[in-house]
This record gives sequence, structure tokens and C-alpha cells, in this order.
Amino acid sequence: MLDQRLLPRQEIYRRYRDHHEVAEAIRAMVIRGAPAIGVAAAMGIALGALNATAAADEEFDAHFERVCNEMAAARPTAVNLFWAIDRMQGVYRNARPGGIGAVCAALIQEAVRMHAEDIEANRAMGRHGQVLIPDGARVLTHCNAGALATAGYGTALGVIRAAVEAGKRVEVYADETRPFLQGARLTAWELQKDGIPVTVITDGMAGHFMQAGRIDCVIVGADRIAANGDVANKIGTYSVAVLAKENRIPFYVAAPTSTFDLSMPDGSHIPIEERGAEEVRRIQGIPITSDDTQVANPAFDVTPNRYVSAIIAERGIARQPYLGNLRAMRSANSE
Ligand code: MRU
Repeated sequence: MLDQRLLPRQEIYRRYRDHHEVAEAIRAMVIRGAPAIGVAAAMGIALGALNATAAADEEFDAHFERVCNEMAAARPTAVNLFWAIDRMQGVYRNARPGGIGAVCAALIQEAVRMHAEDIEANRAMGRHGQVLIPDGARVLTHCNAGALATAGYGTALGVIRAAVEAGKRVEVYADETRPFLQGARLTAWELQKDGIPVTVITDGMAGHFMQAGRIDCVIVGADRIAANGDVANKIGTYSVAVLAKENRIPFYVAAPTSTFDLSMPDGSHIPIEERGAEEVRRIQGIPITSDDTQVANPAFDVTPNRYVSAIIAERGIARQPYLGNLRAMRSANSE
């Protein structure tokens, strides 16, 4: 894994050999972004099974359950993690009668397949979504929903990439995204590598740029989308969505159907991760408050569906009423 905590200053790849290490890498945000977390968890689960091939048959089932539970405890908000675990558990059940060797081979194959499918989903989202981006658009994004947050290409940044590949001129404004700085450190790094013009602004500047007529649309990713189209995404997304509506700017969400959680009727049920105080008290290790300053650090917020102009998925573009339209899109996906 490319260690995303160190970007853009250092590009260091880490090798993990067991599922404990993978779960810890997800928790510590060595890897982050909903689809990337899902694929990493699937690979971690395959590693966990492989490392227990010497176990007795009954012990293997209990071991596999522990592996899945440990992975599920890594982070709570991105539903792709739980979607990936469910999928690996299904593969496990089907392959189990063939013995431990068959289970391991099937789990590895499935994790590799999920990696490839995610890239394909991002490309499809790009094809659908790029029609929403006009030539010459100035696009605001929040957090990082790029190649780093997925198996490759990206969701929100995938749509931007596809617009550029279609010959459009696109300029990106990237919110810095306090406290982990995904926008400043990761989105800017990715877009610069691709030669796509990007300007980093601090989170508090977004409204000013919108009011000044300098933003044409907003596009973000998602960590979990409820059945009614409420969207959980990186903390600060809700403020951006409200500002976009106030300024009559379309607000788009790009996310694969693996990010839909249709078991949740609305966003109020989505668990919001609260991360450690040190992420807010320090920037890249440098204290910005006194050590005993009380801080809060919710990592995500929920944007009500009324602010969402469209949801771009690998099957196409959904609009209001999301209740029904998302369900139709998800079931078309499993045909
Ligand atoms: O805490 P993070 O960095 O994992 O949060 C990531 C986001 O909120 C992304 O916008 C979301 O996962 C979509 S990534 C394609």
C-alpha cells in the first residue's frame, strides 16, 4: 500500500503479511477512501485465511469469523468495508465444502476480482458523469475521491478525468479538507501528476469562490448513501452542499453502487466515525492548540438528499426521487 499519511512529501509503499496489519492500516488511514477500504479489506481477509491453512477444520471457521470481525471494526462509516466483508463471507460459504485450499483460492480470486471491478465501475462512472461537466468548467471538490481512494481512476476525480479525456478544459478547486488534509495533500498530488489544473483553497474559502461566480459545479464522493439519497461523506461536505444550493450551483455525488446502503431509510442512521483528538490538535505532528484543549473530530457528515442534484453511479445517473431510483439502479446492478 502507498502510505497516504506521508503524501505528497514521501511516496512509500508498505507490504503487509497478515490481516491484523491490514486492519490497522485501514484504521490508521495508510489507505483510505470508501472503495479502497473495501478492496483492502477483501485482500486482508484473503490473507487472514491463507495464514490459517494449517488450522484444523473446525478451528478454521472460527478463525475466519475472527478475521472478518477484526476487519469490520477498523472503521465504521464507509459501507464498502461491510459490503466487501459480506461478499467474502458469501464466497467462503460457497467454497467451504471443497476444503481449506479451495476456500483460500476462491477468496484470493474474489479479492482480485473486486479490485478489477472497482476500476471498471470508476471508468463507467466517468463515462456517465462527464456529460454533466461543461467545457471550461471550474469544479470544486472536497476530500479525495480519486485513484488513491479507490482501486484506481477515482469516483469524483474519475468523472473529472473522463471530462478531460473527452477533450474538455476543466479546472479544479480542491478544498484543503481539515483535519487529515485529503484535498491539499492527496487530490492536489493526483491532479498535478495528471496535468489537470488544480487550486487548493482552505475549507472556509469555498463559499467565497461560489459567491464570486468562480465555481460552475461541485462533485464529491461518498462513504455511504442511504435509500432516500442522503449522503455521508467527509466532514465539511454538508456545508459545501448548502453553499452550492444557496449559490444555484449543481452539487453532484459520484459513487459506485457498493456505496449504497439501502437498508438505511435515511442518513440519520449512518454511524459517524469520531477520530482521535490529536488529528485536530496537530497538523502533521505540529501542535496548533495547547495539549489540553478540548476538540471534537467527527470524520464525516450527512448531506440531506435535497441538496444533491444527481448521484452518478456505474449504471448511470440517478436524480430525485432517490427513494425508488437508487433501488432500481442497485437491483439492475445485480441482474
Ligand atoms: O476518511 P477518509 O479519507 O477515508 O474519507 C474519504 C471520503 O470521505 C471520500 O470522499 C469517500 O470515501 C469517497 S472516495 C471515492
